[in-house]
Amino acid sequence: MTFNYNAEPHALAGKTLLVTGASDGIGRALTQGFCAYGAHVIALGRSQEKLEALFDEIEAQHPGRITIHPLDFASAQSEDYKTLAAALSEQFESLDALIHNAALLGARSPIEFYPDSDWTSLMQVNVTAAFGLTKALLPALARSEDARLIFTSSSVGRKGRAYWGAYGITKFAVEGLMQTLAEEVENVSNTRVMSFNPGGTRTAMRRDAYPAEDPQTQPTAESLLPIYLYLLSPAGRKFHGQAVDARGFEG
Ligand SMILES: NC(=O)c1ccc[n+]([C@@H]2O[C@H](COP(=O)([O-])OP(=O)(O)OC[C@H]3O[C@@H](n4cnc5c(N)ncnc54)[C@H](OP(=O)(O)O)[C@@H]3O)[C@@H](O)[C@H]2O)c1
Repeated sequence: MTFNYNAEPHALAGKTLLVTGASDGIGRALTQGFCAYGAHVIALGRSQEKLEALFDEIEAQHPGRITIHPLDFASAQSEDYKTLAAALSEQFESLDALIHNAALLGARSPIEFYPDSDWTSLMQVNVTAAFGLTKALLPALARSEDARLIFTSSSVGRKGRAYWGAYGITKFAVEGLMQTLAEEVENVSNTRVMSFNPGGTRTAMRRDAYPAEDPQTQPTAESLLPIYLYLLSPAGRKFHGQAVDARGFEG
């Protein structure tokens, strides 16, 4: 069943949101949707070319609502996150949401044969980058009156599944980071921390994971927007330290 939520047309006006993995899939659809609802989105991605195409698209419809920031999480260091946080603080009073969405899928193989190089790169992109970016941006989130810190998880990050290798294990780590942060910020800031499992969604990652599947059987990335708008709304404050699921979401 689809979640029905009619956000006001300017529901996100005045809000500054940061989306990682904004160049494709779910992150791209969210960036377009958030800008349409009035937010200013800082769009992170590793491909300057893809980000520029997104910038041109959004700028044509909603001028001044997007900033692009190319950053490859495979090589990013804490200095890169500090530079980003400093630039953000110069331009914006606070950060109203940080949406960790970028991730790599990697090989699907038994652990016994799992490629070491995939293990290392998935840990870096899916976990270490989320840690580094969060650490640098927590002060900007704390300056918001009602911030959200949303980690993107997966069903294989909540219950282990054979052959999903580092992907599932990095999502378990993300759930742990989310729970730890939720306790840490609970009484000291207005940031609400949660993980979100979009469930099967029609993107390049889903195609890689299930090459034989008919993509039309999966919901589009755009169909997730109402849930995110709800999570970002005042009503979404009730989710904290929780693992939220798109499938069956009722608000
Ligand atoms: N689709 C699903 O069925 C599904 C189900 C459960 C959970 N999820 C989760 O939902 C999130 C979005 O997935 P998706 O399906 O939209 O995937 P996607 O289409 O593959 O998009 C992933 C995004 O992450 C970016 N990215 C990958 N490596 C990066 C790096 N080294 N540095 C910076 N950015 C990088 C990609 O950049 P490029 O554009 O350069 O590739 C792209 O923008 C992920 O966290 C995924 O685990 C998806």
